[in-house]
Amino acid sequence: MNAPFKSQAEGVLEVAGLAYAYDGSLAVRDVSLHVGPGEIVALLGANGAGKTTTVKMIAGVLKAQKGAIRFGSHALSGMASHAVVRRGVTLVPEGRLVFPQMTVLDNLRMGASTQSDKARIGELLDEMWVTFPRLAERRNQLAGLMSGGEQQMLAIARGLMAQPRLLILDEPSLGLMPSAVQEMFALIHRLHLRGLGVLLVEQNLKQALRISHRGYVLEKGVTVLEGTGRDLLDNAFVQRAFLGH
Ligand SMILES: Nc1ncnc2c1ncn2[C@@H]1O[C@H](COP(=O)(O)OP(=O)(O)OP(=O)(O)O)[C@@H](O)[C@H]1O
Ligand SMILES: [Mg+2]
Repeated sequence: MNAPFKSQAEGVLEVAGLAYAYDGSLAVRDVSLHVGPGEIVALLGANGAGKTTTVKMIAGVLKAQKGAIRFGSHALSGMASHAVVRRGVTLVPEGRLVFPQMTVLDNLRMGASTQSDKARIGELLDEMWVTFPRLAERRNQLAGLMSGGEQQMLAIARGLMAQPRLLILDEPSLGLMPSAVQEMFALIHRLHLRGLGVLLVEQNLKQALRISHRGYVLEKGVTVLEGTGRDLLDNAFVQRAFLGH
């Protein structure tokens, strides 16, 4: 099967010194991180640490007020979200925002709206049916009638329809049953094996670090720690702040 992703030769995300304030109140002060091609990188932090604000800036949903964002040879800073998608970076937002009154198939078609080659859309759909057999069975069902786990899979599949080289997932395991969480982490690992880079925002720190090559910890809008999954799990600050040790 063809991987549904573009060549990964240039797929390095580099973020330096990002800042963002909502109405004068600083949510992100100084965030720097990078994600290599095909790498799984976790972005961790407590409620309100600035994770969602950070990934929205990377995806062009919010305009960074300071700092720089590059993906391969392109500066993403200041680009609109559809232009960021065209450069190969797709965000699957917090809260699995599928269109509940639309079918699974139509939700997936929406994900390909930046795709100019219409014949390619059919090929991508075929690839999604292979990757997500459960969605194939339900292709004509309304998305809103599916389980939380299935809706999350649909949200991810819709993101993949844009053929990203880097997929950003904002808390994909939130509110899912344990079996669906396992399935979701297994899927992320499979996507990585096919060459896709993943920036994974998670509160489920142990599981996230188990499948991640590296991770960053955000505290009050600042990236305060970076390390391999093992380093971060063993780190005294991480254990105190997140693991209740
Ligand atoms: N639309 C908004 N307007 C005003 N303040 C906001 C808005 N969105 C987020 N904030 C504030 O910005 C800070 C960072 O929020 P953000 O959603 O980025 O954090 P987070 O790490 O994603 O948290 P969570 O784990 O709860 O999803 C918080 O103090 C939050 O209250
Ligand atoms: Mg968030």
